[in-house]
Amino acid sequence: MSGKRPRVIVTRRLPAPVEEQVAREFDAQLNPEDRPLDGPGLGQALRTADALLCTVTDRITADVLATEPLKTRILANFGVGFNNIDVAAAKQRGVVVTNTPEVLTDDTADDAVMLMFMVARRAGEGERHVRAGAWTGWRPTHMLGTRVSGKTLGLVGMGRIARAVARRARQGFGMRVLFHDPYPPAPEVVAELGVEARASVDDVVREADFVSLHCPATPETRHLIDARRLKLMKPTAFLINTARGDVVDEQALVAALEARTIAGAALDVYEREPAVSPALLAMENVVLLPHLGSATQETRVAMGLRALDNLKAFFAGAQPRDRVA
Ligand code: 8YV
Repeated sequence: MSGKRPRVIVTRRLPAPVEEQVAREFDAQLNPEDRPLDGPGLGQALRTADALLCTVTDRITADVLATEPLKTRILANFGVGFNNIDVAAAKQRGVVVTNTPEVLTDDTADDAVMLMFMVARRAGEGERHVRAGAWTGWRPTHMLGTRVSGKTLGLVGMGRIARAVARRARQGFGMRVLFHDPYPPAPEVVAELGVEARASVDDVVREADFVSLHCPATPETRHLIDARRLKLMKPTAFLINTARGDVVDEQALVAALEARTIAGAALDVYEREPAVSPALLAMENVVLLPHLGSATQETRVAMGLRALDNLKAFFAGAQPRDRVA
């Protein structure tokens, strides 16, 4: 990099080692108060910065990208998902978009497995019971849950995170693993994972004891899990979502849980984050986490450094490793 350092606006507070490095490498504007930017705030950022290091809470829509004069040339998204950015509009305006794949795979897979166990073994409910002082002591019929080991897990999507979940499920818990992905892995990868392909999402949800979602949020996957597919699930089955809220019709999920046509759900993501459908809050057979998939110290630092690498490559005139648009 020569001459003046590029101006980078970091839209949210990041782990200290990342902020320190961004400030060393760039003319950085940090956000120590961690206040999310609204549409006008993002527009202002796009007019004044060469780059944004942005997150899932920044809704960078076509309207926001229509701002004039547009100064920003790259959006380095902190996250593997980038549905917060209108990628077509960014492309049209000549703005490069990057993400942070790989570094969060294991922690997000761990999160999906944790949710599966929490909902099956009634962990949230048990915790609330003990904390409320309601526990009267051990008894053979108290809070019986559902066994996970040896059951059938259905994965919707078979990318990096789903494969990591499949390995855990097969090797750790002897589960049978089914999947559907319109862009399936090579046959040797399928064989190595010991998973079984199904021709459709319908086939996966029909057969699985646990359905776990691992597809990106796109116009095609919006409400992929709708009232019809929820009805296809077994009444004893559970839905796990660590992908994106938009993939599930949250109202239809509430209706399915109220009608008991599925046994429960464990959610890390929601259609209108941070809002959660009020009915879910009152249900004991539902586990609700606040979008914690990648939330470990190790991974959040790695994500920040990966976004920084993308910025450094771009401003050095090279192709950023994780360019998605
Ligand atoms: C992030 C995520 O915490 O990477 C993703 O797609 O959902 C999470 O790991 C979030 O997107 C931060 O921007």
